[in-house]
Amino acid sequence: MALTQPIPTLTGLGSLPATSHPLVQYRSLHPTFGADAFADFTTITQELVDEIKMGLAKYGVLVFRKTGLSDAKHVEMSHLFGDLDDIAPFVKGLGQENRLSSDFLFDVGNVNPDGTVMQPGGMRDLLLRCNNHFHADSAFNPRRAGISLLLAHELPPAGFGGDTEFADTRSAYKGLSEEQKEEINDWVVCNSQLNCRRNANIDDNGKLNPLLDTDEFDPMKHRFGKHKLVQTHEPSGRKNLYIAAHAHHVEGLPIEESQQKLNELLSHAGNPEYTLRVEWRDPGDLVIWDNTCTLHRSIPGTFAGKYKRDLRRTTVHDTSTQAWGLNGEGATWRSGLD
Ligand code: OGA
Ligand code: MN
Repeated sequence: MALTQPIPTLTGLGSLPATSHPLVQYRSLHPTFGADAFADFTTITQELVDEIKMGLAKYGVLVFRKTGLSDAKHVEMSHLFGDLDDIAPFVKGLGQENRLSSDFLFDVGNVNPDGTVMQPGGMRDLLLRCNNHFHADSAFNPRRAGISLLLAHELPPAGFGGDTEFADTRSAYKGLSEEQKEEINDWVVCNSQLNCRRNANIDDNGKLNPLLDTDEFDPMKHRFGKHKLVQTHEPSGRKNLYIAAHAHHVEGLPIEESQQKLNELLSHAGNPEYTLRVEWRDPGDLVIWDNTCTLHRSIPGTFAGKYKRDLRRTTVHDTSTQAWGLNGEGATWRSGLD
């Protein structure tokens, strides 16, 4: 009988029923979300992954230290979370080279294909600057991301920056006034990766970097990933504010006016009371988050141009009823490549 059989435990003391022996333990990191999580990754099972998903439903962000995972194990485990997004269309579309072993690994590090540290100012660096702004992965694609798993391979020395910050968008929604909630309740947001990439490359005088001042990077010349702004986060049943730096405008509202309102909502979600900073400490550190109830951004540091910050992400497609937003189930276009 599965429920009453003893299971092996992390400490080897196991003779208790499975139900009383969680495979994952948690230590809260913030009053409303986020936890340090403890699990043994030597044997990766569906039971372990299902338990991590339960933890994510509650905490939104889980930080596992020194997991010992390789690229191959990272990808293998990620497949147990659900269908994975892949970078193949982007590599081909933008003529970029993937230095990693699998198209299921998104390279968010600063390492060149030849292994050297990326120098600031090149196109890849300019595009990665979008990650410095609070976002949810793939909000711009027809099918948005559910869970992301980001694994550290090589890190700058302590004190050179490069943390990742998270925001709790379920609490941010709760913190809105009743009038605001009513105003935004039915809004459909048009998201574009290009919007985020352009905004991340505007200088102090408001001038867009000329390298991005082309049709290729003009959000209005490409398709938008349309998603409802206010949604129920199905794993927890709580309301969520699905806002991201990709948000370009609200469907049916004047563009400038809606941009201003979306920016206000994004900065509301980034209010310190809703945020949590995670410091990367060791190779093997793994942060798993739910993109449908949290935002994240990378914090720039003095490591740039000097030290490697090699982080690799797998991305699990959302499986909720909101996964495809208003983009039509099964759409195959990708933001910026359409
Ligand atoms: C990502 C991302 C932030 C970081 O992997 O999706 O946005 O700190 N990463 O590198
Ligand atoms: Mn991201």
